[in-house]
This record gives sequence, structure tokens and C-alpha cells, in this order.
Amino acid sequence: MNAVLKLTDLQPSPDDISGDVLAGLAKAPKQLPSKYFYDKRGSELFEEITRQPEYYLTRVELALLHNSAAEICAAVGPRAHVVEYGSGSGHKTRILLDALEDPVAYTPIEISFSALTASVQRLDHEFDDVEVLPVCADFTQPVAIPQPTRRADHALVFFPGSTLGNFGEDEALGLLRAMRQTMGDRGGALVGIDLQKSPAMLEAAYNDAAGVTAAFTLNMLTRLNRDAGSDFNVASFSHSANYSVERGRIETFLVSQRAQTVTVQGRRFRFAAGEAMQVEYSHKYTDRGFAALVARAGLKVVQRWNDPRDWFGLRLLQRA
Ligand code: AVJ
Repeated sequence: MNAVLKLTDLQPSPDDISGDVLAGLAKAPKQLPSKYFYDKRGSELFEEITRQPEYYLTRVELALLHNSAAEICAAVGPRAHVVEYGSGSGHKTRILLDALEDPVAYTPIEISFSALTASVQRLDHEFDDVEVLPVCADFTQPVAIPQPTRRADHALVFFPGSTLGNFGEDEALGLLRAMRQTMGDRGGALVGIDLQKSPAMLEAAYNDAAGVTAAFTLNMLTRLNRDAGSDFNVASFSHSANYSVERGRIETFLVSQRAQTVTVQGRRFRFAAGEAMQVEYSHKYTDRGFAALVARAGLKVVQRWNDPRDWFGLRLLQRA
């Protein structure tokens, strides 16, 4: 609807990729931040992961959103301002905006200016009465939401995809507290969470037979060689993803296949043969664990939806 897009650019400070990689490689065990998976190729590979038969998460969440549309609509109430943390393919957003009664505005918050403008251009023409008000910002910090022309009754933060599961405990709490701030007294948050299930099924989802997840994990090294000034020999590392029952999470590593040295910005780091570098966690939740987590952020679960097999869940949160 908008001829000119009203984009708010809070000019988030750019990532210090080299600094983050140097700091991560100096740790024991070595680690790299999972946010660096998502360059152009990495985002394409992630989309391809969502089409793999073993990666049930996206398919099940889409069906759940679809099948729960009427109940979500009733629970959320009319005239919401939908605030999405990150901007995905737009597919889930479309289902949500279709489900809700008279949504007033849609604000994707995204740190990457190019990803933000791309996602917004796709959605802007589709919903005539929904004002699109994108914000370029770091959603791990509280963000002031732009005022739509037509007044909204409340804000609804939308955080699908079990993306929360990629954050460590402290970061996840920080994110939930930022959501609490953003939603206001009358608002809420709709959060997608992957649920605990058999280790075999979880491990299959992160070790697809076609090798797309392995390519996605290894692509981080190609990306860092381009953007962080590193010289990883990509062929000498391999993808490894295991489910820890005790910790309730998939733990993904890049394993050095031989003893080798990697140079980053002139600094040398030694890898032993078989040394595992941690690159991603994907937390899987129980109802109790998730309720306890959100409680620590001053939130409560007011409604829950699971698919018929209890593989994936949507939770509506409000201030406690
Ligand atoms: C989109 C971050 C939720 O953890 O399942 C998929 C990313 N990593 N396969 C996930 C991912 C490996 C995905 N998230």
C-alpha cells in the first residue's frame, strides 16, 4: 500500500566479524557464533534445509499456524500491531496476518538492511489495510515501535522458527525481556518452539541424508574466509551434530579432520586432529522448562498450541 516505505533505520552497529572469530578461537573449546551462518549462500542453504524430509520443524510449524488460525485470532484479539523479530521468507508472516482480525500494522525488525528491504517489498503489496513499518535494528535490544497511522489496540511480537533455541540461556532471557518491553502492558508474543523428542529423530533433522545441513555448517568457514580474513581449509573440517539429552539441545560442531593451523588476521590457531569447534546450539523445550524460562523474564504462557504429534509448539506469552 505504501508508495514510499516508512523505514526506521536505527543504524545498528555492524558486526565485528574478525573480532568475534579471534575471540571464539581463543576459547577452549573453540567456538564460532551461529549468526555468521547467514550470508547469502547460508540463507539459501537454510531454505534448502527446510525442504529436507528429515527437517520437520518448518513444515510442522506452518501446518500448526494454519490449523490454529481461528484460535490464535481469538486469543490475540483484533487490531494488533505485529512485530516480527527477524524477517524470514515471509511465509509464516502471511499465514499469521491472514489469521488475525483486522491487523493494523506489521513491523519486521531486522539487523541486515538488505534482508529487511527484500522481505518488506514482498509483503507490502499483499495486505491492503496493513501498514508496513520496518525497523532496521538489533532485536536483542528493546526497540521502540513506530506509530501506525491507524491506532493499534496492542502489539504482538512474532518470533517463529524456534530461533529462540539458538540463543544461550542468558541471551534467551535478554531477548525475552526485550520482548516484554516491546509488547507493552496489553500486548503479547507468539513464539515457536521445537519440543523434546527422540534423539534419533532430532539427530536426523540435523544430519539430513542429502548433506544440506553439513554444507550449511561448512559454509560458515567459506564465509569467514571472505569476511573475517581467515584461511580455513574447508575440506579438512566436517559437520557433526549430536543431541544432548541432559542439556536438551542439538550441539553442532565443525571437527578438524587433521592437525592443522588456521590464520586469522595474522594470528595463528592450532587445531588437533579430531578437535571439535562448537558452532550452534538448537535448544529443544519441555512445557515445564519453557514456562520456567519465560517466568524468569517476567512473562507467562497464556495459551499453547502443539501439532497432533507434539513435535513443535506455539506459545502465546503475556506479561506475568
Ligand atoms: C532456524 C535457527 C531454528 O536451529 O533448527 C537448521 C537453524 N541449523 N539446521 C535450527 C538450523 C541447522 C535452525 N533455526
